[in-house]
Amino acid sequence: MAVQRWDARLYDDRHSFVARHGDDLLGELAPRPGERILDAGCGTGELTAALADAGADVVGVDASPEMIDRARVRFPHLDLRVADVRELDVEPGFDAVLSNAVLHWIPEASAAASSMAAALRPGGRLVAELGGAGNIAAVRAAAHTLRAETGLPGAEEAWYFPGIDEYSGVLDAAGLKVTGAWLFDRPTRLEGEDGLAAWLRMFGAPLTAGAADPDDFIGRLTQRLRPVLHHTGGWWADYVRLRVSAAKPLG
Ligand code: BEZ
Repeated sequence: MAVQRWDARLYDDRHSFVARHGDDLLGELAPRPGERILDAGCGTGELTAALADAGADVVGVDASPEMIDRARVRFPHLDLRVADVRELDVEPGFDAVLSNAVLHWIPEASAAASSMAAALRPGGRLVAELGGAGNIAAVRAAAHTLRAETGLPGAEEAWYFPGIDEYSGVLDAAGLKVTGAWLFDRPTRLEGEDGLAAWLRMFGAPLTAGAADPDDFIGRLTQRLRPVLHHTGGWWADYVRLRVSAAKPLG
């Protein structure tokens, strides 16, 4: 996986809902004071800071130096490191690993799962949420159609959106015992009249790749998606989430 380049400020300014939805995950994880917790794919550090506020001894890692730079500015007191979730170079023995909205960027799911499992102590737990099967189906379908119509090759499937059985198999093979798994729709409001365009500019490179004029492509795509994704006062992303919790057996 090539390391994605991010505009970390745009991410915070327009896509703060990513971390906001992570609050639910914190509830699932139920961090306890003094626990060592790894935030795998911490972005600009919002959830890492929430874990620290809950009293955890936390390490946040992200493959993007831009995200870590911004996280360090926002939360200079936190232990934040540039690291790839597929090959975490951290001291093992974490009580828990949390991962929010990152694992769908990593098609090498087995490598990521093994690496997170290796970071856990026996008895440690993983709570993760990622895009699940059917995620952004309308956006992807419209982009594929528009690409074909404009003579562009099919978009590379850059994301990994598994279902429950598939991802449970990945975690099982990595030596983790799945204790809960949920696949659910989470239509997500995209702020502003240009909400979908802003989302596509931030995240949609795999869909717009090769377009001679990406802004024009995005304009046409949003026009097409308006009847489907613009309703009840604004733009909505057709998100589907896969949430899992798992534990590393005691041995
Ligand atoms: C997601 O959170 O589901 C997502 C974000 C960016 C690109 C694709 C999916």
